[in-house]
Amino acid sequence: MTDSHRSAFGEHGGESGGFIERTFRERIVLAGVTIPPATEEDTDAGLDELEALVDTAGADVIDRVVQRRQTPDPATYIGRGKADELRDAAEAADCDTVVFDDELSPAQQRNLEKILGRTAIDRTAVILDIFGQNASSQEGKAQVELAQLRYRLPRLRRGKTASLSQQRGGGAARFGGGETKLEVDRRRIVRRIHKLEAELRDVASHRETQRKQAKRSRTQSVAIVGYTNAGKSTLLNRLTDSGVLVEDRLFATLDATTRRLQLPGGEAVLLTDTVGFVRKLPHQLVEAFRSTLQVAADADLLVHVVDASAADPIAQMHAVRDVLVEIGAADVPELLCFNKADAAPEAKRLVDRHPGSVRVSALTGEGIEDLLIAVGDRLRAQTDLVELHVPYARGDVLAEVHREGEVLSETAGPDGVTVRARLDPAGAARLQAWASPSE
Ligand code: GTP
Repeated sequence: MTDSHRSAFGEHGGESGGFIERTFRERIVLAGVTIPPATEEDTDAGLDELEALVDTAGADVIDRVVQRRQTPDPATYIGRGKADELRDAAEAADCDTVVFDDELSPAQQRNLEKILGRTAIDRTAVILDIFGQNASSQEGKAQVELAQLRYRLPRLRRGKTASLSQQRGGGAARFGGGETKLEVDRRRIVRRIHKLEAELRDVASHRETQRKQAKRSRTQSVAIVGYTNAGKSTLLNRLTDSGVLVEDRLFATLDATTRRLQLPGGEAVLLTDTVGFVRKLPHQLVEAFRSTLQVAADADLLVHVVDASAADPIAQMHAVRDVLVEIGAADVPELLCFNKADAAPEAKRLVDRHPGSVRVSALTGEGIEDLLIAVGDRLRAQTDLVELHVPYARGDVLAEVHREGEVLSETAGPDGVTVRARLDPAGAARLQAWASPSE
């Protein structure tokens, strides 16, 4: 992998480049280790997923090498003898890069590259690479770059860095003051990390303000979650195209992935796209995406998009649910949405097996109306419809109803206002004293 062949992401990603070649499809050998209590089947399933990830990143898997061990080798992860075998397999497959299914320490990676005579990367690098290719919003790009730099920093080494000065041909090993190039690279990356952290802190505080505004206006929020490549962004765009999008300057600021949407029932919701999920989401990514992921944990409803045409949609669904647990969103109600119905005849069977789920094609628009109706139904099911009678003297109570819920109608009577409203169960209980006698 030469620097001139760096990925597109590397070119606009500042100091961090992609990890996988993309000017042609790289040939890859996968390596996995079964460490009890994990079984060979677990390793196979992990490698199947890794193969799909490598394919998404734009490379081809030619071969796999697996080993069973009690513990990883601290120096080479796999055993020394197995590393030689892996080198032979890589040579036979004429492959450029070996991808390991688990995270390698910087030292293990260095040692393996020496033995293998080629690039050794791990699952984390592949995932960071895919996220790098897919990041579209400014915030997303900054988050991915931060995660990549945090991953790269301890792995920087002389002669092997993808630093910009090297790409530009500034290959001098030493700079003034006796500082090595490595130290200069490291310092520059640390500076860039701090800058990105500060930028993302600003976005996070902006997001917090949005969240408070949404809470105050009682706008319910819906987060789109799903496995990487499930079609989340396409779905968000489809909803935008179907004209259900409501322009709202309040929310249409920094964060390009949040839209205000009007449901068929008339109520407005905030709809947010989140990052794609995968199994063993690297902790660097979870850290960098914390404020984005928080949106899912705070949402009133998750639309969980599942690619019905994937080789194993159920496994992807479970991988997403594992991540939801990790980010504290396990208790948020979930609406399953089987996507790519146009390309997946089995979508119907999946919907039948999951009561309450819907089948859509974000590409053709099929089922989108049903999805919107289902979202409205699910949100309404979480609120209570109440009728309150508030005396004119109690303007404060009326204000509270407006603040806490969605007012459907207000009728002025001789001694007060009759209000029909939707409130969450806690709000309904608090305002119980004002309930109309008929309620
Ligand atoms: P990440 O950003 O990786 O999380 O992906 P995503 O979930 O946002 O997926 P995205 O919307 O980028 O779609 C991934 C691929 O699936 C694209 O090539 C889409 O064109 C395709 N796709 C999305 N929805 C459909 C669909 O309903 N049918 C078909 N056939 N393809 C779809």
